[in-house]
Amino acid sequence: MVQLTLPANSRVAEGRHHRSADAGAKTRLFKIYRYDPDSGRTPRLDTFEVDLATCGPMVLDALIKIKNEIDPTLTFRRSCREGVCGSCAMNIDGTNTLACTKPIADIRGPVAVYPLPHMPVVKDLVTDLTVPYAQYASIQPWLQATTPPPTNRERRQSIEDRAELDGLWECVLCFCCQTSCPSYWWNGDRYLGPAVLLQAYRWIADSRDEFTGERLDDLEDPFRLYRCHTIMNCTNTCPKGLNPGRAIGEIKAALARRR
Ligand code: SF4
Ligand code: SF4
Ligand code: FES
Repeated sequence: MVQLTLPANSRVAEGRHHRSADAGAKTRLFKIYRYDPDSGRTPRLDTFEVDLATCGPMVLDALIKIKNEIDPTLTFRRSCREGVCGSCAMNIDGTNTLACTKPIADIRGPVAVYPLPHMPVVKDLVTDLTVPYAQYASIQPWLQATTPPPTNRERRQSIEDRAELDGLWECVLCFCCQTSCPSYWWNGDRYLGPAVLLQAYRWIADSRDEFTGERLDDLEDPFRLYRCHTIMNCTNTCPKGLNPGRAIGEIKAALARRR
């Protein structure tokens, strides 16, 4: 029989248990993925006892408390702590989400914290986003028009045209959807993924942009667009309540209409 084994860095070992000196009724366990690819060691799952009586309500508050008071080597990204920069995206309690807007109280039992799945890990909870950002750059995410703008004022939109961008402009490029998409897991080098396609549609839907045809040409490809099989993991996981699956459907519909 064929014996299949995972690569060493896919197996997560039991790590250190950091006990709290004043553990009490409000102590919660946080089980956090730790990995330093440069160390040559396999990843491990460290356990931290955190006193919620002296901690803010969100998972990011607990990570900051752990870093400040228990283990300064714990590595994660964060900036705004308001759900608008997208940098604290990680996998919490089995779902990709933003640590700064995820209440600890919503989680039962130990709080499991892993990096975004299926991405190379730089260290601990920090993933390498080089590929999705290059894919984002490839859709040319800026307004393109050959008609000069009106003198001394911006290009205007009707209220109805502006409303077409609702549900798109709010995307914070956290890549929670991108890294929850099975098609992106298997074909992430060629499939653009839901976050990038939602951003592509944001410019296709913009009444001021005059390069809609070129944008659609660029997406009409069996891999860049059509690897989406409408599984909808992306929409289910978006912490901003957006619907990348619908945006992808709108691009496919626009391509069908122009045939
Ligand atoms: S709907 Fe498309 S983009 Fe979203 S998870 Fe499914 S395959 Fe991926
Ligand atoms: S669509 Fe939602 S999950 Fe995807 S990158 Fe934008 S904000 Fe994040
Ligand atoms: S820290 Fe900015 S979205 Fe969480």
